[in-house]
Amino acid sequence: MASKRARNVFITGANSELGLEMVKQLLRTGSENIFATYRNPTRSQDLLELANLDPRLHALNIDVRRDCQLIQALRQVYDIVKEDGINLLINNAGIFTEKQGLCDLDKTTFMDFLELHAVTPVMLIKDILPLLERAANQNPEAPLGLERCVIANITSFYGSTSSNTTGGFYYSRCARSALNAASVSLSIDLKDYNILVTAINPGQIGGESDGQYPPLTTEESVAGMLQVLQDLDVTKNGMFVDYLGQEIFL
Ligand SMILES: NC(=O)c1ccc[n+]([C@@H]2O[C@H](COP(=O)([O-])OP(=O)(O)OC[C@H]3O[C@@H](n4cnc5c(N)ncnc54)[C@H](OP(=O)(O)O)[C@@H]3O)[C@@H](O)[C@H]2O)c1
Repeated sequence: MASKRARNVFITGANSELGLEMVKQLLRTGSENIFATYRNPTRSQDLLELANLDPRLHALNIDVRRDCQLIQALRQVYDIVKEDGINLLINNAGIFTEKQGLCDLDKTTFMDFLELHAVTPVMLIKDILPLLERAANQNPEAPLGLERCVIANITSFYGSTSSNTTGGFYYSRCARSALNAASVSLSIDLKDYNILVTAINPGQIGGESDGQYPPLTTEESVAGMLQVLQDLDVTKNGMFVDYLGQEIFL
C-alpha cells in the first residue's frame, strides 16, 4: 500500500496468521490506529507484544460473537478515533475444517459455522456502521475506496457455489456463501454511505496446491490482499475477488 493508507483500521481474529500479518503490514504502511481483536491472551502473545511496542496498535480482548463485549469495545474505539471513524474494517476471524460429507454433519457445529462466518460479520458491520460512516464522510473530495471507507470480508474459495465440483465441505461452503451473499447486499445498501464492500479469498496458505491456487506464504497472501484493498474502486464494489484481485464467480 504505497500511496493510499488505511488511516484507522478495525480487524477481527488478529492474534494469528493472516490477521496478525495484516496488523504488521498495516503498521508498516502508516495506519494511525489499528484495533485488533483477540480472544485468548495465551494464544495472542505476539499480538500483545507488538501492542506493547507500538501505541498505534490497540489490542481488544473480546469475542466478536458477543454483542455486549463488542458494543463496549466500540465505545473505546470511539474515544480514540472520535469523528475520524474507521476507514477499514476487516472481518477476518474464521476457521477451516476438513471435508465432511452429509452423514458427518452435526447441527451444533453447522450453526456455529454460520454464526461465526456469516451472522457475526454482518452484525459487527451493523454495530460499527456509525464509525464507518464518519470515516467515509471525512474526505468528501476523495474517490470511494480506502481513502474513505472499505469493508473487507475475508471468506474462502468454498464460498463460490459456481466453482463447486467436489461436493462436501458443507460447513465452509454454506457459511462462506452466506457471507458472500451478504457482501453483495451490503455493497448495494452502503454505497450511498460512501462505503465500499468486498469479499476476499486469501488463497491457500501453505500445504500443497489445491489445483486452483499455488500454496502461498502468509506474507504473500496479506501483501496481495492489502494491494487489492488499495486498488479498490467503485467498479469493484461488491465483487468477490482473490488475493490477486481476480474476480471469483459466486
Ligand atoms: N489460511 C488459509 O489458507 C485460508 C484460506 C481461505 C480462507 N481463510 C480464512 O482467512 C481467515 C484467517 O485465516 P488464518 O489462516 O489466519 O486462521 P487462524 O490462524 O486459524 O486464525 C483464525 C482467527 O479467527 C479467530 N477465531 C476462530 N474461531 C473463532 C470464534 N469462534 N470466535 C471468534 N474468533 C474466532 C481465531 O481466534 P483464536 O486464536 O482465539 O481461536 C483467530 O484469531 C479465516 O477466516 C480463514 O477461514 C484462510
